[in-house]
Amino acid sequence: MKQFTFFGGKGGTGKTSCAASYALSLAARGVRTLVVSTDPAHSLADAFDKPIGFQTVPLCPNLWGLEIDAEVEAKKYMKSIQDKMLDLVSATIVDEIKRQIEIAYMSPGAEEAAIFDKFIELMESVGRDYDVIVFDTAPTGHTLRLLTLPEILGAWIEHLIEKRQKAMNLMKMAARYDKPLAERIANDPIIQTLTARRDKFALARKYLTDREASVFYFVLNPEKLPILETARAVDLLSRHGIAVGGVVVNKVIPPDAGPFLEKKRLSQEGYLREIRSRFSPMPIIELPMLDDDIQGMDQLQTISALMGGLDS
Ligand SMILES: Nc1ncnc2c1ncn2[C@@H]1O[C@H](COP(=O)(O)OP(=O)(O)OP(=O)(O)O)[C@@H](O)[C@H]1O
Ligand SMILES: [Mg+2]
Repeated sequence: MKQFTFFGGKGGTGKTSCAASYALSLAARGVRTLVVSTDPAHSLADAFDKPIGFQTVPLCPNLWGLEIDAEVEAKKYMKSIQDKMLDLVSATIVDEIKRQIEIAYMSPGAEEAAIFDKFIELMESVGRDYDVIVFDTAPTGHTLRLLTLPEILGAWIEHLIEKRQKAMNLMKMAARYDKPLAERIANDPIIQTLTARRDKFALARKYLTDREASVFYFVLNPEKLPILETARAVDLLSRHGIAVGGVVVNKVIPPDAGPFLEKKRLSQEGYLREIRSRFSPMPIIELPMLDDDIQGMDQLQTISALMGGLDS
């Protein structure tokens, strides 16, 4: 098992059910496991049939759950940036700066950045509070953006640092006879903040691209569209250096499901063949369609034994 396991895939395929039952299988093996939802539309609580919120809660021995609340995180994030900025500016423009930051943090992307900060904080807690973290992620597009963010933002921050350094070099010349200014330049808080962010993103990227530490599983159903989408997503993650450990084919109709589902079952068989040929030699796990939704420990246990096979 890896320190960080991600479950991703199209909407409604069974990511949450897989993350929850895999986490349960680890906990049963005595592994201290935290299962985290990064999907703004949480449903981890539904899967466990227990309330889970943005504070970590115990679910059963060796298992804890957490739903990252993007809005709460974005607010915290905004406040920390405001505090830093306010130290740097004169009192006259404080209100204007506050307003600007608030506008910026209502924009799309801010919540992702905030979720990302939380994400890094959690990753750093492994080894201390937990042995492993299992991530239940949002539907594909959102998650791929989140996972490729360190690479993209890292480069962008690097560029900002360079610009700031150039400006500082100019100021240095002016500050040759101005000692206090020279000191301020030497400890430029903007460069310090940017460098800290760059280092954080680099750390996240190091975790995500470390094949010994992180693995990503795609959950799909035996249907046409998810196969194409999954193949594209597998390519994209590989290009970003993130290991794809295999695919979980969920909601496979069992052979004894009866005549009503027989036609659908036959069409699933075709897609299963296609999935096997397209994705092998990656491990492929098949989970049966149950006769009811997966909700509560009993149903999670039913598929948890199969999910445990993912890393054995
Ligand atoms: N093998 C299964 N048999 C029966 N029902 C299932 C199975 N797997 C998942 N479900 C049900 O299908 C629905 C979607 O599953 P789940 O929430 O795990 O998917 P998801 O990929 O996390 O969805 P979303 O994209 O909305 O987050 C849920 O109601 C769940 O209980
Ligand atoms: Mg889900």
